[in-house]
Amino acid sequence: MHSFLAIFCLFVCLSWTEAKEVSQEFHKVQGVNKTYFIYPEKRNANDASILCGNNGLELLTINNDEETEEITLEVVSARNFNETFWTSGYYTLEMNWVWGSTNQPITYTNWGKGQPTDGIPNKDCILFTQEDYEGTWINADCQEEHVPICEQVIY
Ligand SMILES: *[C@@H]1O[C@H](CO)[C@@H](O)[C@H](O)[C@H]1NC(C)=O
Ligand SMILES: *[C@@H]1O[C@H](CO)[C@@H](O)[C@H](O)[C@H]1NC(C)=O
Repeated sequence: MHSFLAIFCLFVCLSWTEAKEVSQEFHKVQGVNKTYFIYPEKRNANDASILCGNNGLELLTINNDEETEEITLEVVSARNFNETFWTSGYYTLEMNWVWGSTNQPITYTNWGKGQPTDGIPNKDCILFTQEDYEGTWINADCQEEHVPICEQVIY
């Protein structure tokens, strides 16, 4: 009986989490391997992450030049968003940069000039900027409020 309930829950509970609706407030942009959801208001980095999670999404990760180009052209420039955007990248207590959404160490990087400023306290979260339309990153105070980009990976 218990195992039946467990299996029953496995299916029902899984489909329940998958069925989480994405709020209509987001601007949706279809990428090649991901769907991006841009929130129209600014949040601090932690709240941005929670906001994405509450909508069944993850805060942005950027894993290669194609994604940088896609976000820069399709998500940001095409819509005239003159903003800086939170990614899920942050600096851990073990002193390395990690994607919070996946807990994976950051291997691909696109830091702006002079970035990251390691050793400067309280600049432990990664912002995607539009500087020179190259989508470079800066490390910023996680308490600052910026526009969240959430994502959903297409499998
Ligand atoms: C999409 O995924 C393919 C296969 O992994 C990869 O070669 C390509 O660069 C990706 N494109 C983008 C825009 O991320
Ligand atoms: C974008 O915002 C920055 C800083 O708020 C401002 O200096 C710049 O003029 C803006 N650019 C456009 C195209 O609106």
